[in-house]
Amino acid sequence: MASLMFTDCSSSTTSRLIHLNRRSGTFLLRQCVGQLRLQTTASGRGCCIRSSSSPISAISADTKSSEGAAIVIDGKAVAKKIRDEITIEVSRMKESIGVIPGLAVILVGDRKDSATYVRNKKKACDSVGIKSFEVRLAEDSSEEEVLKSVSGFNDDPSVHGILVQLPLPSHMDEQNILNAVSIEKDVDGFHPLNIGRLAMRGREPLFVPCTPKGCIELLHRYNIEIKGKRAVVIGRSNIVGMPAALLLQREDATVSIIHSRTKNPEEITREADIIIAAVGQPNMVRGSWIKPGAVIIDVGINPVEDPSAARGYRLVGDICYEEACKVASAITPVPGGVGPMTIAMLLSNTLTSAKRIHNFQ
Ligand code: GUN
Repeated sequence: MASLMFTDCSSSTTSRLIHLNRRSGTFLLRQCVGQLRLQTTASGRGCCIRSSSSPISAISADTKSSEGAAIVIDGKAVAKKIRDEITIEVSRMKESIGVIPGLAVILVGDRKDSATYVRNKKKACDSVGIKSFEVRLAEDSSEEEVLKSVSGFNDDPSVHGILVQLPLPSHMDEQNILNAVSIEKDVDGFHPLNIGRLAMRGREPLFVPCTPKGCIELLHRYNIEIKGKRAVVIGRSNIVGMPAALLLQREDATVSIIHSRTKNPEEITREADIIIAAVGQPNMVRGSWIKPGAVIIDVGINPVEDPSAARGYRLVGDICYEEACKVASAITPVPGGVGPMTIAMLLSNTLTSAKRIHNFQ
């Protein structure tokens, strides 16, 4: 379930949290008390005045921008550039060896958010010339039915990547199903062998999970140095937080992970040169948590009520953007930051897989 909050960073200390039932699209109201120390700041998102879609000279936490405003890391533009690169490679592969990369997606149940993600993945495949395959199974399907679909795609030579959309219905054993995906087609990078290799020095996973890979790709494309920096990852999910921390460590950052039992998250976050927030709490990280000049990658996509928006809500990240962009040296917006990168990395992993399977350089 996603949450909807009646607040931006600068509103009162008591905020009402609404849960958006993504299956039915209905709203359930719940009272809650904001846990965070709130400050009064100018509202609006106009504070990040420098925007750049191209790699810039190295940003570091030691060099706060002179204007006092962060550079906006334009994930949408970077993702488009990556998709353009993939389009060229897909057509080169087709012309050279007659192979079209193929991605299979398995969607179980009727979660609206998952259906949207899957639709977007299909659209993205179409846009770069990757063939997409889709299996939709009912919420009450058995685990065996899912395993049968996985097995069919494992054996299908026109499929080079397999993605089982998560979360799965609660009666299914996610681990069992992810283990069944062929490691050579595990474009999500969730197979324990791929995750295990990601965690080990001197080992190479065949695939890296798409969202964390997209975060690191943004840092690379903006020439943001990672080596030797202090990084904090907020959230420890299998999909984002945990692999993001492993990736940062592989890049020689010194990494701390903040989670629900961390006693002093604000203090630890304030030490960070690089922050990756993937916790699913709207505006959780305030300006006061951020070291001047830090680089911020915000993975959160949280709907908050906004009567002025056509849909009645807007999307905000886990970072209080309007405060953070006055302190950070660079920051990803929400939307338009990490989101488009996740799909670009999925396409990239699918192309890599097809090239590897067909030994195409
Ligand atoms: N659900 C949310 N994010 C992801 C993802 O990256 N991959 C899959 N398979 N499911 C997801």
